[in-house]
Amino acid sequence: MKALLAAAAIAIAGALALVASIVAADRTTAGSNTVTTTIDHGSMPGMTSAAGEPARSVSYAGTSVDNAEALAKAHRPYPAALPPVPAGNVAKVHMVLKDVTIEIAPGIKYAAWGFQGGVPGPIVHVRQGQVVQMTLTNGGAIPHSIDFHAARIAPNLAFVDVDPGKSFTFRFTANDPGVFMYHCGTKPVLAHIANGMYGAIVVDPKTPLAPAAKSYVLVASEWYLNAPGTGKPAQLDLNKARSATPDWATFNGYARQYVDHPLTADPGDLVRFYVVDAGPSLTTAFHVVGTILDKVYPDGDMTPGHELTGVQTFDVPAGGGAVFEVKIGQAGMYPFVSHAFASVDMGQVGILKVGNPKGSASH
Ligand code: CU
Ligand code: CU
Repeated sequence: MKALLAAAAIAIAGALALVASIVAADRTTAGSNTVTTTIDHGSMPGMTSAAGEPARSVSYAGTSVDNAEALAKAHRPYPAALPPVPAGNVAKVHMVLKDVTIEIAPGIKYAAWGFQGGVPGPIVHVRQGQVVQMTLTNGGAIPHSIDFHAARIAPNLAFVDVDPGKSFTFRFTANDPGVFMYHCGTKPVLAHIANGMYGAIVVDPKTPLAPAAKSYVLVASEWYLNAPGTGKPAQLDLNKARSATPDWATFNGYARQYVDHPLTADPGDLVRFYVVDAGPSLTTAFHVVGTILDKVYPDGDMTPGHELTGVQTFDVPAGGGAVFEVKIGQAGMYPFVSHAFASVDMGQVGILKVGNPKGSASH
């Protein structure tokens, strides 16, 4: 019996080694550490799963295409500037969910679920006390929903599944100021968030903060790929998502987009960052290289007197948000990062360009 088990173990090890060598031989563009391969069980669109089997996945971190630089330059960055608050007592928001192929890095395609045909979804900006009237139209293939962290409302009544082809409307009053995540809450939530169903809502406080020269919204998130995405679009690798081992990490859905297209400010400007970490699972350790965060409003609590001052790095947890203020006197290129540097390596870095500096940034 023992001999039989040993023989079986050797056979399994041999099979795994074979799979590993096939994957290694099959790699063309992925400059990554090959472990083994992923099994596609096709349990639902945009998802692979290997339930009941040993976790097996290959990392596509750092995959690069030949014309990456040109593609990065040509990419139209997600507009990070905070849009104005709509007039009136009711802010009407209508999102049409679409299954879309997006790019998450130069030449890296991903089959995403986009709240308004893109990732992240649109920035919602309201003032404290305003009513948000949210309509979600499901143009996708499976049920979806929308959960606002800014709302105090019974989830079973508001954050309900909307079937394909259907629309659903609910209202809530944005009574709590802050920067909050919104996301699809349909099960399995991990898959719906990992596929791009998230965004940020900013609720201005009744007692306004000092006016900022520039206000930027950054939604941090991770991507878990079942393929390099350089040929046909990658889909979700649920095993990677479960083990929180992403291939890419981004601000506003695309690796390093604000490195090639920096956010800007003038020397001495008050710059306010509204940061949401959509996750689904990693923390974003927000840090601006070359300066100190003058003010941090932890978890986006903008009540006067609740801010921290003189902070080097501040954690924004998955599902959380925080507001940051910097005022930079010296012209230069100031990278903003998640100081959990694995995330920078996977693409979660951008640049705040202050004035018209010479030279380039170091991160
Ligand atoms: Cu969804
Ligand atoms: Cu949530």
